[in-house]
Amino acid sequence: MNVRIEHTKQPKNIPTPEELGHIHFGTVFTDHMLMIDYDKGKGWHDARIIPYGPLSLDPATSCLHYGQLIFEGMKAYKHKDGRIVMFRPDMNMKRMNDSCDRMCIAPIDEKDTLEAISELVKTDSAWIPGAPGTSLYVRPFIFASEAFLGVHPSKSFTFATILSPVGAYFKEGLAPVRIYVEDKYVRAVRGGTGYSKCAGNYAGSLKSQEEAEAAGYSQVLWLDGVERKYIEEVGGMNIFFVIDGEVITPELNGSILPGITRDSIIEVTKSWGMPMKERTISIQELSEAHKAGKAREAFCAGTAAVVSPIGELKWKDAVMRFNDGKIGDITQRLYDEITGIQTGAVPDRFGWLHTVK
Ligand code: COI
Repeated sequence: MNVRIEHTKQPKNIPTPEELGHIHFGTVFTDHMLMIDYDKGKGWHDARIIPYGPLSLDPATSCLHYGQLIFEGMKAYKHKDGRIVMFRPDMNMKRMNDSCDRMCIAPIDEKDTLEAISELVKTDSAWIPGAPGTSLYVRPFIFASEAFLGVHPSKSFTFATILSPVGAYFKEGLAPVRIYVEDKYVRAVRGGTGYSKCAGNYAGSLKSQEEAEAAGYSQVLWLDGVERKYIEEVGGMNIFFVIDGEVITPELNGSILPGITRDSIIEVTKSWGMPMKERTISIQELSEAHKAGKAREAFCAGTAAVVSPIGELKWKDAVMRFNDGKIGDITQRLYDEITGIQTGAVPDRFGWLHTVK
């Protein structure tokens, strides 16, 4: 794909490591963005890297009305030897196409699109932070750009990618977070859009997230949308438990997001020879295992948060505390291994790193 580059004439100040420590996740953006247009009959065309700035949209643009919009999240790192890498971006491109399929959005060419994103990362490579726990968050998204008010798939789309230097996703950093088990609202049902990264999944979760935050929790844990018994995922992250020495995560069932960090944790755990299962687990089973002293660790996993320990889960009147509110050994080991591969501190024995430069 031929990508035209127009450099900014007004470069912004890049945050210092000290400033980055105080910046909220995803609130500062680099100098450039990538845009690619799609029109039915013409395909994807006019890939360009241009100065970061506002978009001008017709008020009838269909994504503003019906939410035909999907996104991805990945990270770029600068290694000590100057190499710039991204972590498993091929998986993100594949998942993006799965989301496109579910949302009737034109599929992308995974290889070409990744090359164009890599070009953007190269253009703004000076923005990739180097301090431990930091990275350049890469946010590709596609929205329906045709202007009309009928409910049918758009005939034109805009693909864009923006970049944001980030530190920890949670204000707690790697300190264990408190999570509220949601039993009033639901996130997804089988046959719905739960497995896709469409904007509506996140919009529908905000009410619950707001109520949980007001009660002092960082996130909610979603149960299945029909029986409200089975554990699904945390808002924007997958979930894992260590029960009786076995690492357990809910199996993918169509309503859970197939996380790339989730997949990486499964691979790493298996490579250690540790017992690991993807299976259905009810909140009742977890509560009983916890009462019996068998549920030792719980953690969330996602691109933004990487591996984040859960200190406490609140379910109705019960409070489950894990590992005395401290990060558990397996959680810490997984965090060290995954972030080690990402930052170059640990050999990339799975071949997960994609060299950008
Ligand atoms: C990510 O982890 O990259 C996500 O897209 C989740 C979002 C809640 C930040």
